[in-house]
Amino acid sequence: MLLCADRLTKRFDQTLAVSNVSFGLEPGETLALIGHSGCGKTTTLKMLNRLIEPDEGSLMLGGVNAFDMPGHEWRRRIGFVIQHAGLFPHRTVAENVLVTPRLLDWDEARQQDKLEALLDMVGLPASDYADRYPAELSGGQRQRIGLARALAAEPEIVLMDEPFAALDPLTKTGLLEDIDRLKSKLGFAAVMVTHDFGEALRLADRIAVMDRGEIVQEGTAEDLIRSPANETVSDLLAAPQQMAASISRAFGPG
Ligand SMILES: Nc1ncnc2c1ncn2[C@@H]1O[C@H](COP(=O)(O)OP(=O)(O)OP(=O)(O)O)[C@@H](O)[C@H]1O
Ligand SMILES: [Mg+2]
Repeated sequence: MLLCADRLTKRFDQTLAVSNVSFGLEPGETLALIGHSGCGKTTTLKMLNRLIEPDEGSLMLGGVNAFDMPGHEWRRRIGFVIQHAGLFPHRTVAENVLVTPRLLDWDEARQQDKLEALLDMVGLPASDYADRYPAELSGGQRQRIGLARALAAEPEIVLMDEPFAALDPLTKTGLLEDIDRLKSKLGFAAVMVTHDFGEALRLADRIAVMDRGEIVQEGTAEDLIRSPANETVSDLLAAPQQMAASISRAFGPG
């Protein structure tokens, strides 16, 4: 097991944001966390990245306890694609992408090589994009830079918080394909957060459905479709099924 989260729990004042969340992640595997707004997805990811300390529970990476490892070492091994891209507005694309390599004191040549390779991989070549500021990018381009930044220090795990939010369908498909390609090329494991069962179906090996801070069901997409554990799960499945039905009606038989 690469990553093991055991009974993670986090309260904010009166809110129990995350309650007893446990799961494992094998090398190269992708887990989707899916659920309604406010159910605790971002808080869970932030605990996985140690941006938020859990009140209870434990976290192991490759058999080592998270809190026995320095924070910078942890964050080198676990990249984070922040919700709404989360780029630093007053830093260029290059500075944003190279945040972690700089913290790790990589030499200039290695940083430059990494920057060029990553920007190529996400389809935004350094010659055109490295010196731009986030405000000079489209939403989809920002999401791609967020992805490049998360991959910069060659992490074993990438956490993605709604990487496709607010993207038009074509841009979203392009980014989905990029992530697929990067995953097979670089071999990282991933935990991705989404509201959308369709995205989870497309990218994840397993899906964990969250409701009010808890994981209410975890399994493959097939498991969830075959026997949804409760109404939250069936509601999440209903919207994409209706969408699929109207698409097949529109295209007609044959
Ligand atoms: N820093 C904070 N202080 C107080 N309450 C918080 C804080 N961060 C999150 N919460 C609360 O914890 C709960 C879970 O929030 P979280 O951001 O994890 O939800 P989410 O599932 O990511 O939602 P969304 O899909 O809208 O991004 C919510 O009720 C939220 O209001
Ligand atoms: Mg969130």
